[in-house]
Amino acid sequence: MNEIVLNHPLITHKLGILRDVNTGTKEFRELVTEISTLLCYEATKDAKLEEVEIETPLAKMQTGKLNEDNYAVVPILRAGMGMVEGIINVIPNAKVGHIGLYRNEETFEPVEYYYKMPEDIENRIAMIIDPMLATGGSVSATIDRLKEDGVKQIKFLCIVAAPEGIKVIETNHPDVQIYCAVVDKGLNENKYIVPGLGDAGDRIYGTK
Ligand code: PRP
Ligand code: URA
Repeated sequence: MNEIVLNHPLITHKLGILRDVNTGTKEFRELVTEISTLLCYEATKDAKLEEVEIETPLAKMQTGKLNEDNYAVVPILRAGMGMVEGIINVIPNAKVGHIGLYRNEETFEPVEYYYKMPEDIENRIAMIIDPMLATGGSVSATIDRLKEDGVKQIKFLCIVAAPEGIKVIETNHPDVQIYCAVVDKGLNENKYIVPGLGDAGDRIYGTK
């Protein structure tokens, strides 16, 4: 079991508003940012810190320093972009690599249209971000691409996950850790997550 589900009253509260069909674009974006920060908090719990000496106004002390160069944030376009701010709010120097994928509406297979990663991506922990894990096709294709580029440690952060998608990642990529805010019932005949929140990209960008 490589998935960690955030089980917290703040998450439950924010998800309730996020899912609501009456929630508008502005509030939707703000909530995606806030939940992404909370996901990042959980996903960096195992971060290794360098010991450094600092001086407070009263004394010298040893403390821990995060090497932000260890991370690359990888949003899956479009909807993943909505989560970037929430991550770089707390890891401001992380580099950002982009992969553009959309799901073919008939086959539900991901189609790649853009790929640009930081030069030294193979030396970084890649944090793939996308609000929705449905069939798992988009994130699996992203993981395959990053592994081809030599990335050795990959974490995937999403807001709503379907059990079907989790199973696909755990089968194809058992080394990848999944952090999600909630796991829903499953997919409908159009491969949408139920109850879910609808089309995340459309709700973030106000498109249809
Ligand atoms: C959505 C979502 C994921 C993907 C999940 O993107 O943001 O990337 O679907 O589905 P999967 O797990 O079955 O691959 P979409 O293709 O709608 O593109 P968009 O972000 O441009 O709206
Ligand atoms: N993509 C979305 O945006 N929502 C879903 O429920 C499934 C895929």
